[in-house]
Amino acid sequence: MLTVIFVFLLLFCSSKVLCCNQIERDALLSFYNETSTAPPLNWSATDCCRWEGVACEGYGSRVTRLSLPGRALSGTITPFLANLSFLSYLNLSGNHLSGSFPLTVFRSLNRLRTLDLSSNRFSGLLQPPELSGTFLPVSIRALDLSSNRFNGSVDPSILRRAKNLISFNVSNNSFSGFNSLSGWLPNDVYRVRTLKEISLSNNHFSGPINGSIVLLSGLRVLELHVNELSGGLPMDIGLLSNLEQLQLHTNSLNGSLPPSLMDCTNLTTLLLRNNRFGGEISSLDFSKLQRLQAIDLGNNSFVGRIPDSLCLCRSVTAVRLAYNALVGEIPPCMASLKSLTHLSVSDNYLSNVVGALRTLRNCDNLAVLFMSRCFHDETTITDDDLWHQSGFQNLQILTLGGCNLTGQIPSWIAKLRNIKVLNLSYNKISGPIPTWVGDMPHLFVLNLTKNFLSGDLSPEICRLPALIADNASTDLSYLALPFLFDSLQYNRLFNLPRGLKVGNNSLTGNIPEELGRLKLLHVLDLSNNNFNGSIPDKLSGLLNLEKLDMSGNHLSGKIPQSLTGLHFLSLFSVAYNDLEGEIPSGGQFNTFPAASFEGNPKLCGNVLKRNCTVVTQVDMMPEEEPEVESSWYDIPFGLGYFVGFFAVSVTLLFTSFLDKC
Ligand SMILES: *[C@@H]1O[C@H](CO)[C@@H](O)[C@H](O)[C@H]1NC(C)=O
Ligand SMILES: *[C@@H]1O[C@H](CO)[C@@H](O)[C@H](O)[C@H]1NC(C)=O
Ligand SMILES: *[C@@H]1O[C@H](CO)[C@@H](O)[C@H](O)[C@H]1NC(C)=O
Ligand SMILES: *[C@@H]1O[C@H](CO)[C@@H](O)[C@H](O)[C@H]1NC(C)=O
Ligand SMILES: *[C@@H]1O[C@H](CO)[C@@H](O)[C@H](O)[C@H]1NC(C)=O
Ligand SMILES: *[C@@H]1O[C@H](CO)[C@@H](O)[C@H](O)[C@H]1NC(C)=O
Ligand SMILES: *[C@@H]1O[C@H](CO)[C@@H](O)[C@H](O)[C@H]1NC(C)=O
Ligand SMILES: *[C@@H]1O[C@H](CO)[C@@H](O)[C@H](O)[C@H]1NC(C)=O
Ligand SMILES: *[C@@H]1O[C@H](CO)[C@@H](O)[C@H](O)[C@H]1NC(C)=O
Ligand SMILES: *[C@@H]1O[C@H](CO)[C@@H](O)[C@H](O)[C@H]1NC(C)=O
Ligand SMILES: *[C@@H]1O[C@H](CO)[C@@H](O)[C@H](O)[C@H]1NC(C)=O
Ligand SMILES: *[C@@H]1O[C@H](CO)[C@@H](O)[C@H](O)[C@H]1NC(C)=O
Repeated sequence: MLTVIFVFLLLFCSSKVLCCNQIERDALLSFYNETSTAPPLNWSATDCCRWEGVACEGYGSRVTRLSLPGRALSGTITPFLANLSFLSYLNLSGNHLSGSFPLTVFRSLNRLRTLDLSSNRFSGLLQPPELSGTFLPVSIRALDLSSNRFNGSVDPSILRRAKNLISFNVSNNSFSGFNSLSGWLPNDVYRVRTLKEISLSNNHFSGPINGSIVLLSGLRVLELHVNELSGGLPMDIGLLSNLEQLQLHTNSLNGSLPPSLMDCTNLTTLLLRNNRFGGEISSLDFSKLQRLQAIDLGNNSFVGRIPDSLCLCRSVTAVRLAYNALVGEIPPCMASLKSLTHLSVSDNYLSNVVGALRTLRNCDNLAVLFMSRCFHDETTITDDDLWHQSGFQNLQILTLGGCNLTGQIPSWIAKLRNIKVLNLSYNKISGPIPTWVGDMPHLFVLNLTKNFLSGDLSPEICRLPALIADNASTDLSYLALPFLFDSLQYNRLFNLPRGLKVGNNSLTGNIPEELGRLKLLHVLDLSNNNFNGSIPDKLSGLLNLEKLDMSGNHLSGKIPQSLTGLHFLSLFSVAYNDLEGEIPSGGQFNTFPAASFEGNPKLCGNVLKRNCTVVTQVDMMPEEEPEVESSWYDIPFGLGYFVGFFAVSVTLLFTSFLDKC
């Protein structure tokens, strides 16, 4: 009998009769009326419970869920939404909704458990003065207001009754103030135990982290990164024994890390980079952090040796210690870190690069190894042992820039078949660029800037397969930790600009026309070498080129007109060569400044304010007025110092500074 009634009701509902509550239907219509979206919501059925994004429950079919994320809704939230009195789940994330936070609406929704308004355009204060004493309903469990334009301080009273709160995310707004973190979280111990996730990241919170935060004993995720917090970590932070993710990076926190931090044995992610933490790193015992996967202590002022206890973190995949003042060697025990994929120790004061390489080649999964400006006054990495041993078979990035390395480009590098990025810039490496470089199957960034390399740039080098065809070598995977490259932060290897940089060496001969095959190349730097001959017409094959620097060589002849076909070229320099004739016009060439061409007395064109007709006349002038010509030619010699200085400055401007991994 009941079943019959039920089926009857169902049939009834699906025909003309309204199943949804009239008041709720009107409230929804009013919501829709104050927003707009394209394509329109599928809200044509008579029964509002069958509308897109609406779900009803229970006898009487009351609206319990309204879920319209990413639906391109713009407009404001109507006060009539308060009439959806059975609503428990509201998700309007990823729309273009604006206006102020409709606190008065939500306070009456006393069955509301989940409220997700993230990634919209809401603005202003969460709780304007006239609404003080208004709070969210006791039912609220998850509140996500991240990525909006809220500002002002987060008034404690808004959460006064929120004793069921589990997750609180207001990251990526413009909130300021901080005074007492726990002050505006429910400060009854019973209540705070429910809180598992807090994200206040990407705001302007300032001041110290209130020590009472350790009362939030259920906390698993604490994200306070990218704010203006100062002071130290609470000494008893270890009381947060359930903590899994601690992200405090990019603040102004200082002091040494309290030993009790190592009692947070459930930690998987510990990101403290870009702060002012300091102290002896070797005094920390990492061995209890058996679940630790990613640790980033970069850009702080830690001193001392890399602690052996780090080798006991068996789960660790990513370690970043770059930009500190660490000394000593890479601990040999790191050879046992079989899951390590990412290690960055750039910009420290370590020693024994060969020892480091011998240790780390045992880390079978190592894919990313940043060791620039980390060893000083090292001699050589031309090491026979490394050639005879295997290892590094998964290595994709290797940087060893600025280490004062001498010797030749070591031949063991030829065995690194997966290498994609190789940076040996700013060393004292001499000899030729070996031709096997051109056979490295996945190499797409080669940086040999500022060394003592000599000989020709042989055509074999221009075979680099990963710069010719987009093959499987493009890696879409995310790196465990972001890294800085040419002062930009990257999360993905794939996004790196493909580059061949051999500037500031002593390379000779012609620029090989085979370079023109590298059609995926974004950056080509040949500056400040001794290249001569003309600029190959075929460089016009570099269809993706964005930067081309050939300044400071002995190139002669004309600038090929074909280069105007390089539509993405935004930086170009042939300054300080011996080029002649008219500067091509059209395409990107109409945007390059005079500095791109200066130091070539025989070049002419509007950009140099040198009229080609006049120059041609000067050129053709017979010996009648020899003093004009001799003084013309004397100038470059007289300005030798200037030229050199300018060439260097132009290069410095051009190639931005050291990679800061
Ligand atoms: C929609 O809004 C207009 C004014 O903006 C109002 O006149 C109309 O009554 C509203 N309709 C509903 C269903 O709320
Ligand atoms: C609109 O929703 C109804 C159910 O209410 C459904 O039958 C119909 O297929 C939907 N139309 C579109 C275009 O999705
Ligand atoms: C619906 O909401 C409006 C605005 O909050 C309110 O004025 C009205 O009284 C409500 N209607 C019902 C039936 O609750
Ligand atoms: C809201 O919807 C988005 C998109 O489907 C989803 O990613 C997000 O997890 C939802 N929010 C909540 C709190 O369920
Ligand atoms: C908050 O933002 C609003 C505009 O959205 C602005 O008028 C107000 O001055 C801001 N208040 C503060 C404290 O920044
Ligand atoms: C922050 O919000 C802006 C839009 O307001 C968005 O473009 C950006 O991706 C967000 N950033 C993060 C880290 O979520
Ligand atoms: C908070 O929101 C931001 C931006 O949407 C997101 O990246 C972050 O993972 C969220 N944090 C938590 C703990 O949910
Ligand atoms: C820390 O929070 C507690 C509890 O809310 C408060 O009494 C105390 O004044 C705060 N301390 C500071 C330094 O703000
Ligand atoms: C750590 O995590 C495990 C499993 O996720 C859990 O059982 C345990 O309660 C957590 N807390 C502590 C303090 O170990
Ligand atoms: C490299 O060696 C020179 C001396 O040969 C020294 O002056 C310079 O500081 C060293 N550079 C680095 C980065 O160690
Ligand atoms: C270049 O010089 C010639 C001859 O002196 C003159 O006719 C012409 O207008 C000049 N062109 C420009 C662009 O100044
Ligand atoms: C290459 O080296 C130069 C000079 O050290 C540096 O400015 C640049 O960031 C490096 N680029 C790459 C792609 O390694």
